Amino acid sequence: MKTAKSFPTNFLWGGATADFQYEGGFNEGGRGLLSRDFETNGSQANPRHHTLKLPNGKVITPRSSFILADDVPADVEPVFLADQYYPSHQAVDFYHHYKEDIKLMAGMGFNIFRFSICWSRIFPTGEENEPNQAGLKFYDDVINEMKKYGMEPLITICHDELPMNLVLKYNGWASRKVIDAYVKYAKTLFEYFGDRCRYWLTFNEINAVRGFGPTGVRKADGQARYQAAHNMFVASAKTVKLGHKLVPGGSFGAMFAMSELYPATCKPEDMFHHLQERRENWYFIDVMGRGYYPNYAEELWQRHGFEKITIDPADKEILKTGQLDYIAFSYYRSNITKKGDGWFNVGGSANPYLDKTPWGWPVDPLGLRYCMNEIYDRIQKPIFIVENGIGAIDQADENGYVEDDYRIEYFQQHLSAMADAINIDHVPCLGYTMWAPIDLVSLSTGEMKKRYGFVYVDMDDEGHGSLTRTPKKSYQWIKHVIETNGAALE
Ligand code: BG6
Repeated sequence: MKTAKSFPTNFLWGGATADFQYEGGFNEGGRGLLSRDFETNGSQANPRHHTLKLPNGKVITPRSSFILADDVPADVEPVFLADQYYPSHQAVDFYHHYKEDIKLMAGMGFNIFRFSICWSRIFPTGEENEPNQAGLKFYDDVINEMKKYGMEPLITICHDELPMNLVLKYNGWASRKVIDAYVKYAKTLFEYFGDRCRYWLTFNEINAVRGFGPTGVRKADGQARYQAAHNMFVASAKTVKLGHKLVPGGSFGAMFAMSELYPATCKPEDMFHHLQERRENWYFIDVMGRGYYPNYAEELWQRHGFEKITIDPADKEILKTGQLDYIAFSYYRSNITKKGDGWFNVGGSANPYLDKTPWGWPVDPLGLRYCMNEIYDRIQKPIFIVENGIGAIDQADENGYVEDDYRIEYFQQHLSAMADAINIDHVPCLGYTMWAPIDLVSLSTGEMKKRYGFVYVDMDDEGHGSLTRTPKKSYQWIKHVIETNGAALE
């Protein structure tokens, strides 16, 4: 029965995860060290940090949600400290639980699962000539297991990470050498998995380059970061072109962090500030989705304190011919902005009309519909919502069962807004992969207690627990939504 909240035939329903938050097995199967491996756990009050040793033996712990901070010298040695907990090492151990987890996902009716491949599991230093066979075998097993349930893989080639060697040796994406390393890695994935995987994402939240991003660049100054982003654009475009050759029927996107952004007032100065700040995100989507640098690029660079970046003559053609097939994005919240707030002021001033999660993220379902429309109006390519969800504090009973009505309410509202964008506004949307089907480690805080899943995992902030998986109340609810193709949202 078709209802106002029905979804298109073949709509892709699923969940999304990232290797270093979910997989574990950090020293198994020949995996090399990853930038994320040296990141400790933390909390909102006590942020995550890296543990590094200076040449004089002194240990430093620079704060960073990704990699090294500004003041860290080039010749540091990353170290593990016995009194610290590093969440990526075990995460929630998908490495040994993948069969159980995929079955649980299939039990909700998922027909797609978005996961990221760990780069250093395939090329431990990023520089080997031949891939690590044990790493390929792990993902081969995962994909074959999914296929048993008729589930499509949606593969993120690079989710905010780099083999540690590439970070230290080349200063991450600051070097064009990393472009070659990435393309070799992506080519390997296409050759091994391209026969079974149609949907690919070159990068996760590539626009997060501004404040905390996935560039692996030690210096946080604007020019270095935007130069690194350019190198990532070129790597992505080359990879899309290669994918079109090597993967029959393949479709290639990239993922952008697209919290919605509203002007705080209708004062013209606030409106104009909003236009400029929103371009901090459009910059990335425009280059990768339209294939050229937008008219406002120079103005944007100038506001970050520099005049230009280096663009090789051949790069323009590569960007033009390696445009994305679809635009994927994450949506968790909206923010507001006004003149004087600074650029990429996540959080900004509080929106008086919205409630917040325990981590202070405003809950705004209509913002999702707004965002879907905004992206499609601008780029005119199909969109794909590849992350959306609520980080909440769950209270499990003695059996690990959680009555998470707040999560059901969140998804009820967001899925309804998505249905309206599809059915009323006619935005072409390929699918929806929520974050994250099974509880995993938080990216920003390294906590476990910030839980997203429809399935509870018995593990605490220090990695203690049995890792037992238990479906929450929301598990049955989402199953019903999917099996009724949205009718249950009415
Ligand atoms: C996105 C990332 O930014 O948000 C995920 O792609 C992340 O890796 C998710 O987990 C939610 O953020 P957090 O900090 O609550 O885990």
